[in-house]
Amino acid sequence: MEKEKKNINRREFINKGAKLAIGVSAFSIFPYRSLAGNTVDKLKVALVGTGSRGSGTWGKSLVQPYKDYIELVGLCDINPKRVEYAKKYIGTNATTYLAKDFDRMVQDTKPDAVIVTTVDCFHAKYSVRAMELGCNVICEKPLATDAEQCQKLLDTELKTGKKIITTFNVRHQTSAEEIKKVIVSGELGNIISAEFQEYLDINHGASYYRRWHGKSRFSGTLLCTKASHHFDQMNWSIDAEPVEVNAFGRVAYYGKNNSFRYRNCRGCPFAEKCDFYWDITKDQRSMDMYVACEKEDGYLRDGCVWDNDNDTYDTMTVEVKYNNGVLLSYSLNAFLPYEGQRIAFNGEKGRLDVRLYHRQPWDVEHNSDFRLTKNFSNTKTWHIKPGEGGHGGADEKLKDKLFKPNQSDPLGKMAGSRAGVMASLIGIAARQSIETGKRIKIADLIDFPLTWRE
Ligand SMILES: NC(=O)c1ccc[n+]([C@@H]2O[C@H](COP(=O)([O-])OP(=O)(O)OC[C@H]3O[C@@H](n4cnc5c(N)ncnc54)[C@H](O)[C@@H]3O)[C@@H](O)[C@H]2O)c1
Repeated sequence: MEKEKKNINRREFINKGAKLAIGVSAFSIFPYRSLAGNTVDKLKVALVGTGSRGSGTWGKSLVQPYKDYIELVGLCDINPKRVEYAKKYIGTNATTYLAKDFDRMVQDTKPDAVIVTTVDCFHAKYSVRAMELGCNVICEKPLATDAEQCQKLLDTELKTGKKIITTFNVRHQTSAEEIKKVIVSGELGNIISAEFQEYLDINHGASYYRRWHGKSRFSGTLLCTKASHHFDQMNWSIDAEPVEVNAFGRVAYYGKNNSFRYRNCRGCPFAEKCDFYWDITKDQRSMDMYVACEKEDGYLRDGCVWDNDNDTYDTMTVEVKYNNGVLLSYSLNAFLPYEGQRIAFNGEKGRLDVRLYHRQPWDVEHNSDFRLTKNFSNTKTWHIKPGEGGHGGADEKLKDKLFKPNQSDPLGKMAGSRAGVMASLIGIAARQSIETGKRIKIADLIDFPLTWRE
């Protein structure tokens, strides 16, 4: 009875609580880096997971350009060679540690914040431990790959008073900003439904099946590792939180769907005839970062896309019902001849159509087409250019907001644990829906903190 009452309260909360979800500010994490901008000290950061994202975006591209604002004090990875490679690649004096010595790294180097860029399924473990050891957390998406991890993250944040930032760089892309501005402008009126179609091509899509992402136990499937970006973008765009999820998914293209397979591309007897053969030896960074380190942990970066153990869906459709009544229809296909997105919002007063072109075997004049059509009225089109830098300038904008003083956030682009958990929970619920054949209520997945209702 008590449990039932608690759940009803939680559902009530889910139905009412959306307005709190956006506008979560990074500034609360680093109080001395206040809006007034009086920086007292450099922010001390340590990083766990020194692979591509860790040594690049949060390593080399952080340490030099942001040297006036941050100091990298520790690097940690499960792979002893990769952590040393990262130190050299980044060009830092930070002390290196093995994953088993994560606690020691935090105790020795005393960072203000820990940046978590490991394989997805370990994000929660390190984020929780970092908070228990007194640090704030800057965590890559997806914040979590299962409901238990979401619960631990929220409970620990509450218990320790430390804070998590989820690095949803997509919110900082010019196209995402433009969509948010159109919705906030009220031109569409109240949003009634939305559509999101993700097209991953045979380069980008296949790359997930050569890496750990192809195994759901590491990535939580593309519904977590990839789609958490999209779910967060939609949650943020419409300023709402998910209530119920229904999904279908298949491994329809990669994995078992071929007559031949090998362990990895190097030395593959089918190299000549396989369309997905990838010669990692031509990529020096991958050779240094992965191949030179593979004896330590057995991880093969050029894994076979046809591996029978690739159980991450490459084809999926998801329906989400939101607490403001919006119905979202989402799909992702990871084996297409071109890459891009179609996003649309249907409002009381009209429809916004967005088509983003990332890679396609035909010429396009612009990277994006925006069209706003008003009911009983006119239609207008325009284009938005991506910014310069990583992920269309989004990585730099996110880091500016995180680390530089005097940053304002009128669109509420900085995301905390709540946004991170909500995006993850859609993916987790979708996966559960696919596996059970049932609709999944978000409120049944975890016990939300009561403070979220205030
Ligand atoms: N926001 C974005 O645009 C974006 C882009 C790329 C990657 N990412 C995220 O960044 C993270 C890292 O991705 P990546 O492409 O760098 O992958 P990667 O495989 O290159 O790096 C992952 C690193 O984690 C380490 N690791 C694995 N298990 C560990 C453990 N138990 N303890 C400590 N370290 C461990 C690996 O040794 C490796 O160095 C992922 O969560 C991914 O989703 C985000």
